[in-house]
Amino acid sequence: MEAILLVGGQGTRLRPLTVSTPKPLLPTAGVAFLAHQLARAHAEGVTRIVFATSYRAEMFEAAFGTHAHGVDLAYVSEDEPLGTGGAIRNAARALTCGPDDPVLILNGDILSGHDVRAQVKLHEQADAAVTLHLTRVDDPSRFGCVPTDDQGRVTAFLEKTPHPVTNQINAGCYVFRRSAIDTIPEDEVVSVERETFPSLIASGAVVMGHVESEYWLDVGTPEAFVQGSRDLVLGTLSSPAMPGAPGERLTLAGASVAPGAVVRGGTTVGRNAVIEAGATVIGSVLLDDAHVAEGATVRDSVLGRGARAGHGAVLEGAILGDGAIVGPGNELRHGLRVWPGIELPPTAIRFTPDS
Ligand code: GDD
Ligand code: MG
Repeated sequence: MEAILLVGGQGTRLRPLTVSTPKPLLPTAGVAFLAHQLARAHAEGVTRIVFATSYRAEMFEAAFGTHAHGVDLAYVSEDEPLGTGGAIRNAARALTCGPDDPVLILNGDILSGHDVRAQVKLHEQADAAVTLHLTRVDDPSRFGCVPTDDQGRVTAFLEKTPHPVTNQINAGCYVFRRSAIDTIPEDEVVSVERETFPSLIASGAVVMGHVESEYWLDVGTPEAFVQGSRDLVLGTLSSPAMPGAPGERLTLAGASVAPGAVVRGGTTVGRNAVIEAGATVIGSVLLDDAHVAEGATVRDSVLGRGARAGHGAVLEGAILGDGAIVGPGNELRHGLRVWPGIELPPTAIRFTPDS
């Protein structure tokens, strides 16, 4: 089966990590995020993937070439972003399958343990135009809200509605009948969520929902990105692309963790990163060459390449861009972000709880 992978978004919610690297290429549990998706797609029977690229298009081919994780790869880029639907239509030029064949479409920022083969089976049994993977979340207003009838047929598609009618949402993995992709207008900006799905449903086409409650996460926010990395390292979601056995931490080549430092909770310690004695690092992502000094505490945070947490600094839910330096004694909490190359002098920021 062929697939189209949507990777043209700018990843704005993950800035400053995405200033230099597109979201799908951010190192996650030791490898580029997409490696996990490619390896899983291969395990689910996908043989060839067309990348629909836009933002920093050239970096994807440089990262994966023409074959990776068991899958043949092709690249189609948009000069200007065409939106999710326009990107699918544009990338479909590079498909080789027949008009009635199923094509898998994947959002490029999803970790999912769902059964793709079962989704494709439902699609074929129902002779559907499109079959969507649906999952349930606590806050459906941030996603595409997708009600279904008692036959599993999708009755509406409400993208990011403030008034969700169900907590069942679009999980960002679709099976399209190849010919249904051709109903999307060519060379136009089209949203598959706001235009294609509602118009297919209105026209009476069969759109099915494959509901599953297996592991699922959109890594589009800093909190979710850290959680996804942590879940892969701990083995909560198993990935054939993980460069090591699951456990409390993943330590990459050349990294050094001083005896007595506490490093756990699914932390990744990047290549040549350093954690000094007396430091505590929990559930965090340290990219290559990051440095945590003596006595610092880092929790649920990301340190970009070469970033540094100084002596006794406290980072909780913080993001340090590449090369950012947090001087000794600072306390950063609540999603604070330090831009690449910025240096915070000692004790410049201290956290004062609301009274
Ligand atoms: N090639 C290309 N061109 N790709 C794009 C473009 C574009 O113009 N715009 C977005 N993408 C890609 C992104 O890179 C991402 O992989 C995917 O399309 C979805 O975009 P996001 O920006 O991550 O959307 P979202 O998370 O707000 O919402 C989407 O995903 C939710 C599930 O995580 C929607 O599909 C929702 O309906 C869904 O619930
Ligand atoms: Mg997303």
